[in-house]
Amino acid sequence: MQVWTDINELATLEGAISKDGRNLLPEDLSIIKNAAIVFDEAKIHWVGAAQDLPTMYHSSMKSLKGHTVTPEIVDSHTHLVFAGNRANEYSMRLNGADYQAIANAGGGILATTTPTNATSEDDLFHSAMQRIERIYSYGVGTIEIKSGYSLTLEGEKKLSRVISRLKDHFSPRIRITNTFMAAHAVPKSFKSAKDYLNAIVLPLLNEIHRTIDAVDIFFEQSYFLKDDCDLLFSKAKELNIPLKLHADEFNDNKGAVYACENKALSADHLLCTSDDGFKAFANSKTVATLLPGTGYFLGKPQANARALLDAGAKVAIASDYNPGSCHVDNLLLIASMAAPNYKMNLAELWAAITINANDALGLERLPRFSVFKSDSLAELTYSWGRNFCVRA
Ligand code: NIG
Ligand code: FE
Repeated sequence: MQVWTDINELATLEGAISKDGRNLLPEDLSIIKNAAIVFDEAKIHWVGAAQDLPTMYHSSMKSLKGHTVTPEIVDSHTHLVFAGNRANEYSMRLNGADYQAIANAGGGILATTTPTNATSEDDLFHSAMQRIERIYSYGVGTIEIKSGYSLTLEGEKKLSRVISRLKDHFSPRIRITNTFMAAHAVPKSFKSAKDYLNAIVLPLLNEIHRTIDAVDIFFEQSYFLKDDCDLLFSKAKELNIPLKLHADEFNDNKGAVYACENKALSADHLLCTSDDGFKAFANSKTVATLLPGTGYFLGKPQANARALLDAGAKVAIASDYNPGSCHVDNLLLIASMAAPNYKMNLAELWAAITINANDALGLERLPRFSVFKSDSLAELTYSWGRNFCVRA
């Protein structure tokens, strides 16, 4: 049992939780000043003003004077198991080239498969460990990791194994979820996306489904189209595995509508989603996950966050950490940079990186917290890029 007291600001997000993370007003942060909280790994036993803390808890109190506490920050979308880097593509983009043009010319996801396939399982494990520690150092405690940088049968098996090992290694300090994304791109040696799915992705999914938490697929022109998503999703449904989708990143492919129709946990990116997509989220449990770092880093117009929020969508924000379109490990920084452009209030912002991101992974809501050496919640994103995280 943990007893924390004298917390300057405890944002319980109780208001946001009671509204299912949608249509949030600033007061839905439900901040308690000079607060105390009593919890164990399964539940919160008591929460309120420090002066009201029952005496039975006084003997084990820990003072968090000068600190702010929030529900744990969750990064619900990363591709952090890979080798090499694509700094060259970044330079090319700054010199005027476009992400898709670079990918079509042999760069992009396929370029990362070469160094990844040449790297041992242990080396991939160790580089991923360091990335996870960096992400954690900013206050993130739960991280989703996608496979998808091998695109061969043995290689994708190896990547999924690396993620399972990371999950065991970091538990319970850091919670990791394992998303199967062998459907990330189509290797050049296959005639079509369908051939690749039938030869590699579906048989592999069948073999390792017990070790994975969700499937994801890149629904985009030159990658996988609706029929391909149908193939993967029907197999995943048969195996009872939750669905996620890379949707409407470069074109309005109606991926958001498709994800909601299929009751996916989340549809992510949404840069090109339009009205029908906004409406679909409003009537669905599917979380609309925005990845503002990717739009920034690729120099593309951002998703229409305000339209999503106003429609009543449940919105999350994640990093999309990957070697190509968004090489960033500080989720709180990009979320704080995005909020003014997305025109989000602080309750919408914090729900997006905590409770709604948790739902985007289909995880049980546990009493896990992020702790910051700061007097107020507002200061955490006001001083953008500064790291206030401490471990209590
Ligand atoms: O989420 N969109 C697909 N996958 C990544 C890009 C990966 C890469 O460029 O290596 C993304 O942006
Ligand atoms: Fe992604």
